[in-house]
Amino acid sequence: MSIDKFLPHIPVMPQEALELLRLPQGGVAVDGTLGLGGHALLMAQALGPRGHLIGIDRDLTSLNLVKEKFKDLKLKVDLSSGNFRDIGQILEKLGISAVDGVLLDFGISSFQLDDAKRGFSFQLDGPLDMRMDASSGLKTAAEFVNTLKENELEKIIWEFGEERFARRIAAAIVMQRAKAKIIRTKDLADIVLRALPRGYTRGRIHPATRTFQALRIVVNEELESVSLGLEAAFKILKPGGRLCVISFHSLEDRIVKNKFKSLNFTEEGLILTKRPWEASQEETTSNSRSRSAKMRAIERIK
Ligand SMILES: C[S@@+](CC[C@H](N)C(=O)[O-])C[C@H]1O[C@@H](n2cnc3c(N)ncnc32)[C@H](O)[C@@H]1O
Repeated sequence: MSIDKFLPHIPVMPQEALELLRLPQGGVAVDGTLGLGGHALLMAQALGPRGHLIGIDRDLTSLNLVKEKFKDLKLKVDLSSGNFRDIGQILEKLGISAVDGVLLDFGISSFQLDDAKRGFSFQLDGPLDMRMDASSGLKTAAEFVNTLKENELEKIIWEFGEERFARRIAAAIVMQRAKAKIIRTKDLADIVLRALPRGYTRGRIHPATRTFQALRIVVNEELESVSLGLEAAFKILKPGGRLCVISFHSLEDRIVKNKFKSLNFTEEGLILTKRPWEASQEETTSNSRSRSAKMRAIERIK
């Protein structure tokens, strides 16, 4: 199976990531969110043929596609399936104790979004799944949607989706599931659409975007992974090593900002981005996904 058959996931702010990571030739670096390997390929080029690149992704399908794509690279490449919050253990298994750089590019890739059967998309009908790693034992989105209490659904949609009509949507879900279980993405998208006031549907983003995002975050325990992952990634940096993070959600970015601030305060790290870097106008025009990206980086001092 060739990776080129799929719509490419365009890496966000690639040159900025390279600039902040400042990887040395012959160094060791980790891409903790390998995706389809867009950033990783650039990292591999920066490390050069004597370098060592480790790629981690919890999505086995993506990982296998990149294995094929990277098979002819000259440098040493290790690709592992797993959660980046376990980066320490993953590197230990590979016999690596410290690295020059780590990149974390949160969220999902276009490849995952565009595959209807993964259930991430409200535009494609598929099972309401949303797990990045189906073997993880995590509950599916359908399980959450059909079992959570109304006030719990409202809280999730409000907090993680930042959806102001969370109460209406939660009520509509509970009313609908009393008639029949909600198990398809299309059904949920229709429920959300009907629950919203008319004018609200005219915005730039699809009205179900926020609800789907909220569920995806909960299903994959994304914010827990962000907190634990930052901690673990910083720990495995060499002195002078750098961690570069791209967030797409204000809650993720807040976790990153606070973690970096505390590392800066204790003088373990030096923040390299006083304010988060954002994509250029040129990039946001050609890649809409980059519009909400916030990039932050920190260097380990000791
Ligand atoms: C935005 S995509 C990364 C795209 C990649 N930078 C590229 O250029 O192709 C995010 C990827 O991170 C993976 N991912 C998300 N959370 C993860 C986690 N906690 N541990 C490991 N991988 C994760 C997703 O499966 C997805 O493939």
